Amino acid sequence: MRLLVCENYEEMSLRAAEILASQVRLKPRCVLGLATGSTPVGAYERLVEMHRQGSLDFSQVTTVNLDEYKGLGGENDQSYVFFMRANLFDGAEIPPEHTHFPDGTDPDSVRACRLYEEALAAAGRQDLQLLGLGRNGHIGFNEPGDAFVPGVHCVDLTPSTIDANKRFFASEEEVPRQAYTMGMRAIFAARRILLIASGKDKAEAVKRSFFGPVTPKVPASILQLHPDVTVIVDQEAYSECR
Ligand code: GLP
Repeated sequence: MRLLVCENYEEMSLRAAEILASQVRLKPRCVLGLATGSTPVGAYERLVEMHRQGSLDFSQVTTVNLDEYKGLGGENDQSYVFFMRANLFDGAEIPPEHTHFPDGTDPDSVRACRLYEEALAAAGRQDLQLLGLGRNGHIGFNEPGDAFVPGVHCVDLTPSTIDANKRFFASEEEVPRQAYTMGMRAIFAARRILLIASGKDKAEAVKRSFFGPVTPKVPASILQLHPDVTVIVDQEAYSECR
């Protein structure tokens, strides 16, 4: 694992964007695994800037996203499909047919998970998987539990995650209680993984994920076993590790 400690959110975002951009430049027909949440927004802004300046072409890229809220469709501004369009896909001109998500509108969890597993298999291994980090150490929506879940699955979101994500919704009641998420097998299949974390409220999760035992109680800790992981944090997120 490589750990890079940046001064602040801006520097973390720039470093992450540079790694994503070089992946696309070196292999234009690559598969990018992408994340939502507030953490990657700055990196996505940099990528859109590079595209607008003409130095980055996403036209051949395939993307697979980590997760989607169950019950939300792409027209809902809280869905992850909407988020990705607004923050990256539209600006970087990534063709919608090259992008993949679990189908949040499918009420049949078994079918939704099977179809996304098939979509992931058809897309092929991610050349680079971008991850954020939940305050409880979750990646995607792989919440703390008694075992790492290998396949795409439907998750009951934990109170900690509902609390953390309510800031995006009008009220806590509106936060969906379930989500579909990529499982650990597909995350782990990525050739390279890039995890980013920023701010004091991630400090404990960074410490437990990368400086503690590998345990499903801290889902991101499994990344300690992956052969090619880069973790980029800012000073605040690193503050509990000193
Ligand atoms: C969300 C997403 C994760 C994300 C995490 C952190 O619930 N499912 O993929 O990494 O929580 O979000 P944020 O970056 O807003 O702190």
